[in-house]
Amino acid sequence: MVSVTSYLASLMIFSVVLISNVSGKMGMTVAKVSHQNDLAIDLVTCDTAKGCNPYSGDTDCNTRLPVLCKQTDKSPRPAYAMTCTDHAMPKEFYCGWTMGYIATTPKVAASTFSSIRDVDAYCEDAFGPGWVTAEFHDSRYIPGMNGATYANAQWTQWGASHGNNYPSGGWSYYSYGNVRNDTRFWMDINDQPTTCWSR
Ligand SMILES: *[C@@H]1O[C@H](CO)[C@@H](O)[C@H](O)[C@H]1NC(C)=O
Repeated sequence: MVSVTSYLASLMIFSVVLISNVSGKMGMTVAKVSHQNDLAIDLVTCDTAKGCNPYSGDTDCNTRLPVLCKQTDKSPRPAYAMTCTDHAMPKEFYCGWTMGYIATTPKVAASTFSSIRDVDAYCEDAFGPGWVTAEFHDSRYIPGMNGATYANAQWTQWGASHGNNYPSGGWSYYSYGNVRNDTRFWMDINDQPTTCWSR
């Protein structure tokens, strides 16, 4: 004989276990590729060869990883050389510029965030006002940019004559910063279901 109470209690335990395991949801993570000391910039990429998957996710949301955060302050692009190649989009798309800074938080299970606003708040707590979650499409580019071409003052002038509508890139980008290279990071992506948080 099983009493109603113990039956209900076992059901509750069962659901708790179920809920904590069911979050086998997978989020997208990215990694740092390199740093250029002379320009104080990092290259960060969604490296599909190393597992990054923006379409179905690559890392269990319960995994503790740093969040990649950004602060954009309209910094013009420093004169880095194009290291990217043409694919579906021109190479500049894949070698875009964040127009600011990146930094990484302490490690956190992404499943603890309910919405993107919570992740943004975590970035702000870590680094101060103006810091929010880095997003897959943060980078901006100018067709034909390379080295000094459309760098610094030329970057700003091009923007001024184009309503400051720099096309948005994706997959990898350059940014001011020098983040750690010993781990992957959680990153936001605004047009795929592979974030551990809602929007
Ligand atoms: C990782 O960063 C450290 C410290 O900046 C550097 O010495 C090392 O060469 C980097 N490793 C790789 C694989 O880039």
